[in-house]
Amino acid sequence: MGLPPPLRAQAIRTPTGSRSEENPMRRPFIAGNWKMNLLLPEAVRLAGDLRERLRDLSDRDVAVFPTFVAVEAVARALEESPIQVGGQTCHPEDAGAFTGEISAPILASAGASLVIVGHSERRHVFGESDADVALRLQAALRHRLRPVLCVGETLEERESGRTLEVVERQVRSALEPVAKDGLAAVTLAYEPVWAIGTGKVATPEQAQEVHAAIRGMLRDMGGAVGEDMRILYGGSVKASNVDGLMAMTDIDGALVGGASLDADEFARIVRFEAM
Ligand code: PGA
Repeated sequence: MGLPPPLRAQAIRTPTGSRSEENPMRRPFIAGNWKMNLLLPEAVRLAGDLRERLRDLSDRDVAVFPTFVAVEAVARALEESPIQVGGQTCHPEDAGAFTGEISAPILASAGASLVIVGHSERRHVFGESDADVALRLQAALRHRLRPVLCVGETLEERESGRTLEVVERQVRSALEPVAKDGLAAVTLAYEPVWAIGTGKVATPEQAQEVHAAIRGMLRDMGGAVGEDMRILYGGSVKASNVDGLMAMTDIDGALVGGASLDADEFARIVRFEAM
């Protein structure tokens, strides 16, 4: 089966260029979401391998998101390296009787500086609603964890022409309750659900089309803050397709799942060359 169609009959062609030259706030940001993978020693080894390969990063941000139990050890392994560490979700409450959950202050105390919220697996496998995601994002901000807010449509939503409606609902429900100074800490990640873990990466034009629409929503909501917010693309990003994606004006980075588990592959993605 091929890729789902673009939103409009004619895909938008956008002139390419370097984001960081246009807007220094939108420094490229490459994030590795390790999901429920790697035993503790493997996670520490991968962190060490990345540390070796990515010593000299001055013009881009990099972060990895290990499982909760590995956050502390990975943060330690990456001390004094430019690579940051985050959690894969956080609970809305700071503490309490929530068996199996983790809170933003616990993540922060383990060395996390970031947290993913609203990943499609949290939304679709674990049933997190837009309202849950909004509360989790607010909890992250309360504890100075920089949230990476994930949004994206399912295949069925795209095929029924509802991509932008779904994405706008997800963006607005999470970000409208946040004050402007809080917005400055947020990164967005557009991850079409049909592209996650499927090997079906959106074409650069398909991704750019939605990124440009999200940029418009952010401008509308936050003015200058919206202009500065980074929007990452996620969904089957690999070393072989990152360059084309990063050449798009509104793609400021990548949220990488499967391909972030291999040090050489991830390091090559981090060193993308926008064409
Ligand atoms: P993938 O996952 O790169 O394995 O498609 C991306 C993500 O879920 O963040």
